[in-house]
Amino acid sequence: MNILHVCANPKPVEQSVSKQLAARFFGKLLELNPDVELNNVDLYQDKPPYYSNDLFRRMWMPVFDPAYEPTKAEEAAANYVQKQVDELKKADVLVLTMPMWNFSAPGIMKAWMDQVLAPGMMFELTDAGPKPLHNITTVVLLVASGGIYKENDNRDALTRQVSAALGFIGITDVRIAWADGQNPLFFSDSEVRRDMAFEAAEEIAEELAEESLEK
Ligand SMILES: Cc1cc2nc3c(=O)[nH]c(=O)nc-3n(C[C@H](O)[C@H](O)[C@H](O)COP(=O)(O)O)c2cc1C
Repeated sequence: MNILHVCANPKPVEQSVSKQLAARFFGKLLELNPDVELNNVDLYQDKPPYYSNDLFRRMWMPVFDPAYEPTKAEEAAANYVQKQVDELKKADVLVLTMPMWNFSAPGIMKAWMDQVLAPGMMFELTDAGPKPLHNITTVVLLVASGGIYKENDNRDALTRQVSAALGFIGITDVRIAWADGQNPLFFSDSEVRRDMAFEAAEEIAEELAEESLEK
């Protein structure tokens, strides 16, 4: 199993519930299957640029115009995507670690997704719709939030948006460990909720380890 772990959280692990979820998840997974290959991308160390018109032209003009030749600036605008996609193409599992900010993924994670979910990179457009150009079968979301959210909560623009975007490129197996209710001022059971999410993260790790050893 080859995993790409993308983390969007500027906090150190001891202050971040989502990073602690990741530590528990990878701790269990590597204990059960030490052969897992793991690549880490810390988005705060390797920041994605905001989407630009040069990038738009470099990614989308080949779809519309077979004669398109990129300018030097358009070619350079794809440097970040190219590096990230090289890592994504090696992966069969993608793990995304992040907090909920304003009901959605942190802007830096959205910026990363805007970069990498590009035609000719992660998918190609065919008459039958988007066709995957990657080997990722499973996504694991490791999320923390201050508030509590029920399943399919209308306010949740994080797990639903990320799942929809990845569904577009053919990834429908999305497994989630979500430590919600992490604001102890509002929820006296925040520690219990955190521990339940740690257990959920370890269970997902167990499932994946089992599946990888079966292959
Ligand atoms: C800028 C910002 C926005 C936030 N927005 C929300 C929100 O919309 N909903 C929510 O439930 N919690 C929100 N929170 C609380 C965080 O999701 C919560 O503190 C969570 O534990 C952060 O994860 P971390 O501990 O891994 O950093 C917000 C926190 C910050 C700093």
